[in-house]
Amino acid sequence: MSDRPALRLSRLLHGADYYPEQWPADVWAEDLRLMDEVRMNSTTLGVFAWTELEREEGKYRFDWLDDVFELINSNGKRIILATPSAAPPAWMSRAYPEILRTGPDRVRRLHGNRVNFCWTSPVYREKVRSINEQLAKRYGHHPALMLWHVSNEYGGECFCELCAQAFREWLKARFEGNLEAMNQAHWTRFWSHRYTDWSQIDIPGNPYGETANQGLSLEFKRFTTDQIVAFYRAEVGALRKHNASVPVTTNLMGFYGGLDPWKLAPYLDVVGWDSYPQFRDQPIDVRGWAKAALTHDLTRSLGGGKPWLLMECSPSSSNWYPVMNLKPPGMHLFETLQAVAHGSDSVLYFQWRQSRGGQEKFHGAVVATGQDNTSRVFSDVSQTGSALDSLSAVAGSTTTSDVAILYDWDNAWAIDGACGPVQGNKRYFETILDQYVPFWEAGISVDVISQECEFGQYRLVLAPMLYLLRDGTAERMRQFVEGGGVLLTTYMTAWADEHDLTFAGGIFSPLAELFGIRVEELDALYPEQKPCVVLPRGSHFGVEGAFEVLGFAERIHVLDAEVVGSYGKFWYGEEPAITRRFVGKGEAIYVGARLGHDFNEPFLNSLAASLNLRRNYDAPTPAGVTVQRRVGRESEFLFLMNAADKQAHLAPPERPAVEILSGKPVSHGITLPPYGVAVLRLE
Ligand code: GAL
Repeated sequence: MSDRPALRLSRLLHGADYYPEQWPADVWAEDLRLMDEVRMNSTTLGVFAWTELEREEGKYRFDWLDDVFELINSNGKRIILATPSAAPPAWMSRAYPEILRTGPDRVRRLHGNRVNFCWTSPVYREKVRSINEQLAKRYGHHPALMLWHVSNEYGGECFCELCAQAFREWLKARFEGNLEAMNQAHWTRFWSHRYTDWSQIDIPGNPYGETANQGLSLEFKRFTTDQIVAFYRAEVGALRKHNASVPVTTNLMGFYGGLDPWKLAPYLDVVGWDSYPQFRDQPIDVRGWAKAALTHDLTRSLGGGKPWLLMECSPSSSNWYPVMNLKPPGMHLFETLQAVAHGSDSVLYFQWRQSRGGQEKFHGAVVATGQDNTSRVFSDVSQTGSALDSLSAVAGSTTTSDVAILYDWDNAWAIDGACGPVQGNKRYFETILDQYVPFWEAGISVDVISQECEFGQYRLVLAPMLYLLRDGTAERMRQFVEGGGVLLTTYMTAWADEHDLTFAGGIFSPLAELFGIRVEELDALYPEQKPCVVLPRGSHFGVEGAFEVLGFAERIHVLDAEVVGSYGKFWYGEEPAITRRFVGKGEAIYVGARLGHDFNEPFLNSLAASLNLRRNYDAPTPAGVTVQRRVGRESEFLFLMNAADKQAHLAPPERPAVEILSGKPVSHGITLPPYGVAVLRLE
């Protein structure tokens, strides 16, 4: 979509959600002065401001916002303006109850909170269109306006009759009016679940509704995503009417399960997300940092590798809910520069000034109630501001990866919804993270892709637990491997098609030929049952020993593959557990049991080494230190980050380099304190 407006930045953005409507005008001037002190160059306005813009239906009041725009503009900062749809006014809920969301219990919610609106209500869409058009007309050409921020953290489901009707229509269109095809796809002869008329279909879900038709439940997740995308596009349509050249985005929520972001991403001019990691500083939670990194990589991948925006993070505690755990010294700089290292062109906070009331009155802010520029938080934020200033040249630089990890929303929904092989969390996300961590630690850049992305640009694709395989994926995987790619998958892969119907040929059958194995069954183990997988001395990957199986073990038969590891110590005997098969110019690797970090780390490291995958740093890095790379038109930048709790030393890179934060050339190596970050510009 090259004709879309782009956000072109000559420096990294430093800014915050700003709610001037909560304060008298004399506070605004002080705010702007303090923003200068922490080197902010952007502010986000209007998130949740609807009632302040339209106190009565159709009576708009923009005077206060005009003044704020002028003040900010004259101060040389740029504005990200939000549409207010995340929080409708009370008068609207009273006048048009249909706009309110209905819960799965079919009870319409009362007015209050936020994101409490129906995705389908024509009245709500119309009200949002009107206010958005008003905003676009008034500010769409304002010189300070840089970006539209559509709504806030779209999420949740609505179960009202308008949504139920839209769901029926959606199904009808999906199955081209063929009810029998839908019945077939959802296997509705089971428990007499056949529908004989479209009108009989209701939204599935707890607490009282249908929960046993998993195909239908999956469709409702897809439908909700489609409704959100349609809602977003309607919002954008109203904004574009008055100036189509201002870029548009919305703040995503990482791996949030209520919305498939791949469906929204094509309509975002720049992708962004709100990061609230839950770090624990004692003991150092390296995996927590890796999880944040993985989500940053997902965001970058959603935007096709282009720079993205960190749209919110907390300036004071890494998270505030459920535990408001303050960031120890150095952690704020680490957290914010980590986002930049993984491709963000911004550090934006929730929030600038702490509110004195409302749900978030204790939430951290750059300016906390009763505090000034002498607070700990203010000085942390100033430090990030100065760092971002010195990193201006990083703006616009990009990252390319040889490795991709496949995390697919359809697949996550189907796995979560499946009754078995264990109840509760089947640990799909954790499995993805398990496989990501060794690459993150080794400083190898990783993209996070969906099943529908191209595989061909990667050398290695990791697709663990890809239970739901859409039509065509198996064939694309074959082409990828034949063309020279290495594909790794695991237990619980290729069990069901896009309707969540298990494959007629049996589990894994669509991939059996490619991997040269047949999967017979999966054993879900009690914690005290501990088979292990043994890799013999001299194994193909240079990894040897016995590794404990953690919960899932598949019994597989080799058709035409090399056995890399076999079970031991259990009734399976020495059946194969890990296999590899060379196909065309590539390789298909199967790991049939869930194994821990003791296996993943050496195995994936050895795989990376055998493929000669590009590491971001040419010298060895100590444990807990990761290096990420961004490449600009003129320079290449390396972010060296020490997530461990002790000082780390690195040899200098082979190419001459300048450490940008200190401005000094790198001569004798680099020392990083705990949470220390160095950014090198390679000459
Ligand atoms: C975000 C939300 C913000 C604020 C913040 C608190 O999810 O977008 O408006 O509520 O959480 O951490």
